[in-house]
Amino acid sequence: MSSLAERLSLSKDLPDEGLRELLETKDEALAEELRTLARAKTDEIFGKEVFLRGLIEFTNACRNDCYYCGIRKSNHNVARYTLTRDTIIKCCGDIYEAGVRTIVFQGGENPMMAALLTSIVADVRATWPDCAITVSMGELPIDTYRRLRRNGADRYLLRHETADPEHYARLHPENMNLQSRLNCLKALRKLGFQVGMGMMVGTPGQATEHLIKDIRLMQEFKPEMIGMGPFIPHKDTPFGDFPAGSAETTLRLYSILRLMLPDALIPSTTAIATLMPGGRIAGIESGCNVIMPNFTPSVQRRAYNLYEGKPLVEPADALNAIKQELAAHGYFTGKSRGDYCKH
Ligand code: 5AD
Repeated sequence: MSSLAERLSLSKDLPDEGLRELLETKDEALAEELRTLARAKTDEIFGKEVFLRGLIEFTNACRNDCYYCGIRKSNHNVARYTLTRDTIIKCCGDIYEAGVRTIVFQGGENPMMAALLTSIVADVRATWPDCAITVSMGELPIDTYRRLRRNGADRYLLRHETADPEHYARLHPENMNLQSRLNCLKALRKLGFQVGMGMMVGTPGQATEHLIKDIRLMQEFKPEMIGMGPFIPHKDTPFGDFPAGSAETTLRLYSILRLMLPDALIPSTTAIATLMPGGRIAGIESGCNVIMPNFTPSVQRRAYNLYEGKPLVEPADALNAIKQELAAHGYFTGKSRGDYCKH
C-alpha cells in the first residue's frame, strides 16, 4: 500500500483527512518522504534552477490596519516613506546589473501611490524590456490594475491570507473581507496577470482545518505563484504577544502545494528564513523554486517591518550569500524571467 505522500504525489490530491495527517503527523519518516517527493517533483519540472525576484519595497504608507502587520496605519512608531521615482529606477538598475530579470514592486495598500506606480512601470518596461514586472500593493481599483497591466506589469501578488471568512475577520478590521480579496484575484486573472496568492501560517486562532481550506481554495483557483510564510509577531501590533507560526508546518505546506500544483512558482519566503536558521534552503529542499532578495535601499528597509527580525544586510551581499548557499546545496540561479509555464 502506498503512503499518503506517494498518493498525493501520484494523484495531486488527497481527501481532507489525508491532508490533515500530512500537516499534523509526528511520523518523521512520513514528513521526510513528503519533502523528498516534493523536491523530486520540483527537480522533474524545473531541475535545480531557482528563480530570483528583485524586491523593491517602494512605500510603507498603508491605508489598512491588519492586526498582524507592522506597517498597519495605526502604528505610529513607523517612519513612513515613499521612494522617489529616481531611487526606484536606480534600484531597478541594481537589480538588472545583478542579473535578476524580475522586478517586484511591493508597497502598502495605497491607491494614490499605485496611480504613480503605473507610470513608473511604463518607464521600467521601456528601459528593461527583458525583465518581468511584478506588483504587490493590495486591493486597488480595477482600473488601476488595468493600467498597470497595460503599462507592462506581468504579475500580481495578492495573498488571500486565509480562506476562512471568520478567520479572515479575526485578522482584519471590519472594513476588509475575504470576498473583496477574491474578487480582486479574479479581476487580476481576467486582465491577464500571472497571479499569486497565499496565506500566513500560524496566525492567532488558525487551526489545521483553516489550512485545509487554504489548500482547497488554491487547488481550485490554481494560482501561478504561491506565497506562504509563517506568522511572526510584531510588537507594535495587536498580535504582538502571540507566538510565531510553525516553521515545520510551513515547510510541509510548501511540499503539499508543490505536489498539488506542480507548475507553481513558490518562493522560499523571507519570513521562513527569518524564523528558522537555514530556513531559506529548507524551503528549497521542501519544493520551493523562487527566492526574492531585497533590493530596497537599507535606509528605508529599516522602516519596512511587517514583522520583527528581518535581516538588514546590503542587497549585493545578501544576493551573493544566497547564491553561495544555493550552490553549496547543488542549486543554481539563471538569468531567465522565470515565467509560469504549464507542463
Ligand atoms: N508575519 C508574517 N507575515 C506577515 N505579513 C504581514 N505581516 C506579517 C507578519 N507579522 C505578510 C502578509 C502580507 C505580506 C506582504 O506579508 O501575508 O500579505
